[in-house]
Amino acid sequence: MKAAVFHGPKQPLKIEEVETPKIESHEILVKIAACGVCNTDMHYIDHGVPTFKKPPLILGHEPSGIVEEAGAGVKNFKVGDRVLIPPVFSCGYCANCRLGRENICFNMIMLGNHIDGAFAEYTKVPAKDCQHLPEELPLEESSIIADAISTPYHAVKNRAQVRPGDSVVVFGCGGVGINVVQVASAAGASVIAVDIVDNKLDMAKKLGAQHTINSSDKEDKALLKEIRTLTGGGADIAIEAIGNPKTIELASAAVKAGGLHCQVGYTHHSVPMNAGRLMFREIEIKGSLGCRPVDYPKIIEMVKTGKIQLEPVVTHKFKLEDIDKAFDLMRKGESLRSIIVF
Ligand code: APR
Ligand code: ZN
Repeated sequence: MKAAVFHGPKQPLKIEEVETPKIESHEILVKIAACGVCNTDMHYIDHGVPTFKKPPLILGHEPSGIVEEAGAGVKNFKVGDRVLIPPVFSCGYCANCRLGRENICFNMIMLGNHIDGAFAEYTKVPAKDCQHLPEELPLEESSIIADAISTPYHAVKNRAQVRPGDSVVVFGCGGVGINVVQVASAAGASVIAVDIVDNKLDMAKKLGAQHTINSSDKEDKALLKEIRTLTGGGADIAIEAIGNPKTIELASAAVKAGGLHCQVGYTHHSVPMNAGRLMFREIEIKGSLGCRPVDYPKIIEMVKTGKIQLEPVVTHKFKLEDIDKAFDLMRKGESLRSIIVF
């Protein structure tokens, strides 16, 4: 089969002919229909973030497809089923899995990181971690549910616990942040979207933001003042979806006394913390990672009923051979989400 293989940082993925995976009894072989291109992939390629499995490795962790083959022990899928593959597989027996927090499983295995991923014609995965995709959902665009939609959903619902009427300021309206905007809006929040690119903010508005702020030429103080004015003293919740130390600090500063800062963006840098403000105003800070398996059917229902939109967010489609073009667009900040289609 054809696959895009990662051979190490600072080199483009190579399109190669590799062996089609052979499944074990608990696994399914999926003919990939589409796989989203994520910033995480670019961190491996451009920024030297190490993959757990040493290269050569097939990247790609946001796929949808059709079951081509099911292992003898598989009960929940049959050949021909439409399937969504989450990016992370859990062990099922660690303390966090038993708490229903499989997204922070102690033994998690990530597709396209610990094992070969889905920038390939076929991928093998444990059937127990996969989700059924109903006929009403578009097979290709639904790939982005696996990560770009599910990560914001978990942040909004489980970590930030956004309630109707809450004021939520979202820092960053890229591939992840734009879906924080639409899920928080669907949850009934009044959303303020902050970004430095106007067309991302236009999309945020289309997907439910009440207010948008282009912060590119704004002093921090002026930005915070504007957020405080719009929210009557500070947002109930700030969600940072960039991973920039400066906007992480701003997110904590943008919430009211008793407010919550939920961190979704990734950075390997440390960020200074105003501990006095944290203490005196009872600010809460929570991290958010991925999504729990139990939430996927709810997300799929929201897509089915039009409360979450996929089409506007999938801005580009590329063939596997052109995968580097997708990364180039991401480097230029011109795409929201690109998907590779087969
Ligand atoms: N202030 C406001 N917005 C900013 C700033 C800034 N200083 N810097 C960048 N942005 C905006 C960009 O314009 C873009 O719209 O943040 C957005 C980042 O989006 P993407 O590059 O598409 O990244 P995304 O895929 O959304 O991931 C964001 O979430 O899961 C993590 O690892 C991921 O850390 C990354 C973060
Ligand atoms: Zn576990």
